[in-house]
Amino acid sequence: MLSFDEYKSLINKHLTDFIPETDCKAAVLRESMEYSLTIGGKRLRPVLLLAACDFAGGDIDQALPYACSLEYIHTYSLIHDDLPAMDNDDLRRGKPTNHKVYGDDIAILAGDGLLNTAAEVMTGEVIKYAGHPHLMERHARAAHEIMSRAGIRGMIGGQTADVKGEYMEADADLVKYIELHKTADLITAPVRAGLMLGGADDEMLEAFTSYALDTGVAFQILDDILDFEGDAELIGKEVGKDKDLGKCNYVCVHGLDAARAELHRLTSDAKASLSRYGSDADFFIELAGMLEIRKY
Ligand code: IPE
Ligand code: IPE
Ligand code: MG
Ligand code: MG
Ligand code: MG
Repeated sequence: MLSFDEYKSLINKHLTDFIPETDCKAAVLRESMEYSLTIGGKRLRPVLLLAACDFAGGDIDQALPYACSLEYIHTYSLIHDDLPAMDNDDLRRGKPTNHKVYGDDIAILAGDGLLNTAAEVMTGEVIKYAGHPHLMERHARAAHEIMSRAGIRGMIGGQTADVKGEYMEADADLVKYIELHKTADLITAPVRAGLMLGGADDEMLEAFTSYALDTGVAFQILDDILDFEGDAELIGKEVGKDKDLGKCNYVCVHGLDAARAELHRLTSDAKASLSRYGSDADFFIELAGMLEIRKY
């Protein structure tokens, strides 16, 4: 296995390689898509995909188009999340948000473009393995995993509950639904897709699904904590917005102390899910620990 930074370098090096050629009449679309992709980002999700594939004994070169597709989908979700009709944010990854640079129309289209490109890239990969039914099945399962967890029962469902939950009465069930779907699904998708590409068995898939769901919910709880008390400069996005927008999140509903306790509990549970793998799973155990104390 490589280190987080080594996987991340691989992603950053190849991130735009899979985007198809665009006609010069759509040049601004491509520029806008690449703007949001290349201004920064932790690359947590694509790194998880490569690491999971590696862990299961797969070939990370075969996983790279899926890892980049996942980052296209994540980035589209951020471009749309920042639009005036949604969270109305001016800053993302330390730079002006996509719509501030290109306007709402192109920002919407850049998001659509990234989502569609992900589907195009992944289905293109599946077709490449048409002569190898065993491999083709792994690739098709990985592509389906990513599209379904990004879809209406996953991230888009969670985003819908998030925007419709604004200014609603505190509701712990709704908070759980939002965390699980808007965020944990897009963290679980790369872990499961990477394992599928590597040919993992059901037992490994199950253990890592528990790990990823807990890590994903913890990730959103800390995102909410950082919105309350984080450093905007470090985070690269505006802070204090969730309270202003009346968001229904863990901190707003349960308070900061309870949020910190839940973050710790979920991180411990995530690590425990992988205990059967001993030091082989150190990459994932250490990552959960780093994510618990992240400042951005
Ligand atoms: C932001 O995700 C959206 C959430 C689900 C909280 P990240 O914090 O991973 O954003 P980048 O990719 O590093 O910009
Ligand atoms: C956004 O959650 C999650 C997705 C884009 C799917 P937030 O609205 O909390 O993310 P930030 O804080 O703007 O990054
Ligand atoms: Mg939002
Ligand atoms: Mg937002
Ligand atoms: Mg947030």
